[in-house]
Amino acid sequence: MERIPEPELMDDPEQAEAYASADFSEPHNAFVAHFRRLFRDFVAGRVLDLGCGPADVGIRFCKAYPDAIMTGVDASAAMLQLGYAAVREAGLAERLQLVQSYLPDESLAALQFNAVISNSLLHHLDDPAVLWETVKQTAKPGAPVLIMDLMRPASFAEAGQLAGRYAGEAPPVLRRDFHNSLLAAYRPEEVRAQLYNASLFGFRVEAVSDRHLLIWGNL
Ligand SMILES: C[S@@+](CC[C@H](N)C(=O)[O-])C[C@H]1O[C@@H](n2cnc3c(N)ncnc32)[C@H](O)[C@@H]1O
Repeated sequence: MERIPEPELMDDPEQAEAYASADFSEPHNAFVAHFRRLFRDFVAGRVLDLGCGPADVGIRFCKAYPDAIMTGVDASAAMLQLGYAAVREAGLAERLQLVQSYLPDESLAALQFNAVISNSLLHHLDDPAVLWETVKQTAKPGAPVLIMDLMRPASFAEAGQLAGRYAGEAPPVLRRDFHNSLLAAYRPEEVRAQLYNASLFGFRVEAVSDRHLLIWGNL
């Protein structure tokens, strides 16, 4: 099945609210667990979260790594408003800063990070190379990089089944977004080609669930 792109930004307040209200505890906890499993030496440092949305991944990451200091960037004001409130409520305002930034953003290159993470951004980007170039500009040499994203199913019918299974009970706007995101996501072989084109030769790509791809490496 050919990829069907979806809009880059999630800047509609109703859409952002539905996304922030959803229970992503399973994939987001899994994200943090994958990071811990793959990068056992990482204990502390400055972490960049690209396309942070309402900061649920960042909050879980900061709780798991009490000595991490995180910057989350996203272009959507609606998402960031929800993120600011969630960070305050979690008592993490001292360690988790959210910044409005539309990628590519040259100004980020001045900030060098000890780790770079991103969840569910890749499939939104008009040009996937933006993610890989941003990773190369912002991660210090040797820094751990962990990206998780949806994986495009083999067929439209399978996308419908996954949307029913994982968002069947969700509000219509969330179910629609999840379905569209599955159609916009990349296949493992497409991500491998992106990494090759970005000269990120040591990075690995693996399907870790029926709908998630994990991409990781040290810069
Ligand atoms: C599906 S959400 C994921 C949010 C968060 N990472 C999470 O896992 O909950 C994708 C986010 O990427 C943001 N985004 C998409 N394209 C972007 C770009 N070019 N620059 C900055 N943010 C972008 C959207 O606004 C949205 O908040």
